[in-house]
Amino acid sequence: MDRVISPTSSVRGTFRLPGDKSISHRYAMLAAVANGRTEIDNYSTGADCASTLECLRALGVPVERSGNCVVIEGVGPAGLSAPARALDAGNSGSTIRMLSGILAGQPFECEIGGDESLSRRPMERIIGPLEQMGASFTAQDRGCPPLKIRGGNLRPIEYRLPVASAQVKTTVLFAGMFADGTTTVDEPLSTRNHSEIALREFGADLEVDGLSIRITGRTRLRGQQLRVPADLSSAAFFIAAGLLLPESHITLEGVGLNRTRAALLDVLRGMGADLEIVRGSTFHGELAGDIEVRSASAVSSVAGPEPLLAGGVIDGATTAGVIDEIPMLAVLGAASRDGLIIRDAAELRVKETDRIATVADNLQRMGVEVEVYDDGMKIAGRQHFRAAKLDSFGDHRIAMAFAVAALCADGPSVIENAEAASVSFPEFYDLLSSMTH
Ligand code: S3P
Repeated sequence: MDRVISPTSSVRGTFRLPGDKSISHRYAMLAAVANGRTEIDNYSTGADCASTLECLRALGVPVERSGNCVVIEGVGPAGLSAPARALDAGNSGSTIRMLSGILAGQPFECEIGGDESLSRRPMERIIGPLEQMGASFTAQDRGCPPLKIRGGNLRPIEYRLPVASAQVKTTVLFAGMFADGTTTVDEPLSTRNHSEIALREFGADLEVDGLSIRITGRTRLRGQQLRVPADLSSAAFFIAAGLLLPESHITLEGVGLNRTRAALLDVLRGMGADLEIVRGSTFHGELAGDIEVRSASAVSSVAGPEPLLAGGVIDGATTAGVIDEIPMLAVLGAASRDGLIIRDAAELRVKETDRIATVADNLQRMGVEVEVYDDGMKIAGRQHFRAAKLDSFGDHRIAMAFAVAALCADGPSVIENAEAASVSFPEFYDLLSSMTH
């Protein structure tokens, strides 16, 4: 579906966004193998988290959904049943990877796959540790989905993650729930810790010591009453619109601000963004708060908006901390004074699309100067966004990042395959038009 996005002068208002995708997946998967009922309020509305619920239903878990509230009757650690057909994870890397950790501990064989994009994504990173634990896998070329998983009795392992990946960490920790003894995962650098927090909430025996996480298997999880904070990675698009468009002022309520996830706010503040956090709170171990954003552009009548955001360099651990927000940061970088250099971001090449290529392609279509590296890119600053025919290439974050860029262009732009946004944020375009003035 093509969508036309016309330029606008500002975004204003107060909004509450749907629940965090990462946390929703984890709550649903843990609820399924817990004992008793779990109620999840503000569950992510995206297609990815719906794929997780469908997979759980196919494994015999009673799941009811009414709007954003999901009720899961946990079947306990030994209660999943072999699915009648292959599980479909859709576009969701989180579903296939993290659920594989649970499937590796089941006494049955099953298959899990997904759409064309998912079928190109690397799974060796989970197959390696899960095979060490005693499961066996059949994959397609280069370890891609669909995966056939033969689960069984798992043994605990000590695993050092070769890539900084919260999904892989979670996969091994979830498998560790089904192993006799203590499984240890060592991270090269800190990644989002939603799994550690959620496992503790459900009653798992888990210890964290710096970058080392230990889980002792065979403890019983208990169903919970949970509320998911709003998704910071979805909020990022509106924060960027608020910063880019002159005279903007928006408040986003109840957004997840977990420190291992909120590097975006530090990066933006480092660029000079005016962001304020008000009414902080904690939901089930997860920090949340309202984010107030004021424009970082001053209107200058002769030369158009003067950028007040500095640019900068994003690399090392910071890159890992903002990995999902890089498409949006790249757009902000082009509008900044000094431009933006992004390094250590080779992981972007194996996301829903090769995001180094798809970001650079769309920026170039808008007339922005970009130099591409194997592990990142250099985006010139003080660029003017030319109206263009853009393409999401089927990637939700590319669709939304360039919808925001299009708001700042010199005429209407078209986004092809704009519907991809619904993978994480189906309400995105409606909310965007309700805040533009
Ligand atoms: C996620 C971790 C990140 C992120 C993805 C969600 C998670 O992936 O890009 O959107 O929920 O754990 P990696 O673990 O591959 O870095």
